[in-house]
Amino acid sequence: MERTLVLIKPDAMERKLMGEIISIYEKKGFHISALKIVKPTKEMAEEHYAEHKGKPFYENLVSFITKGEVCALVIEGENVIEAVRKINGATDPLNAEPGTIRGRYALSKSENAVHASDSIESAEREIKIWFPEL
Ligand SMILES: Nc1ncnc2c1ncn2[C@@H]1O[C@H](COP(=O)(O)OP(=O)(O)OP(=O)(O)O)[C@@H](O)[C@H]1O
Ligand SMILES: [Mg+2]
Repeated sequence: MERTLVLIKPDAMERKLMGEIISIYEKKGFHISALKIVKPTKEMAEEHYAEHKGKPFYENLVSFITKGEVCALVIEGENVIEAVRKINGATDPLNAEPGTIRGRYALSKSENAVHASDSIESAEREIKIWFPEL
């Protein structure tokens, strides 16, 4: 059984889309095994987005994700990593299919509602950041 780390980002939290977004993963049949609401520290954000350090959008990315509460989730299921990436849609909402979470709710490339791990290795690394107790 695979697991992935999802973040509902501050733009979606501020717009009260948390319940709506969680129910999309639930209704697809995935199991939510851990969930918390947290205002990320700069350290957590930098660790989470370490692969993007040095890129032109990195500073904005860190300040955006730390600007408010996020909802962190561990979601389990068969092929859940790839499936949740598909449900979330493309990074840029202009390229996201209308049926995806980003297609429906994302405002821009930076305020794009959700994050999901992109591999087994990143899922395990990210789960440790957001759920050190697991
Ligand atoms: N060219 C860009 N301009 C502005 N922001 C960007 C750009 N590329 C990526 N980002 C931001 O950095 C985040 C991480 O980029 P990444 O390439 O990992 O995309 P992703 O895997 O689709 O998104 P996430 O990691 O948040 O699930 C994106 O969600 C987006 O908010
Ligand atoms: Mg990514």
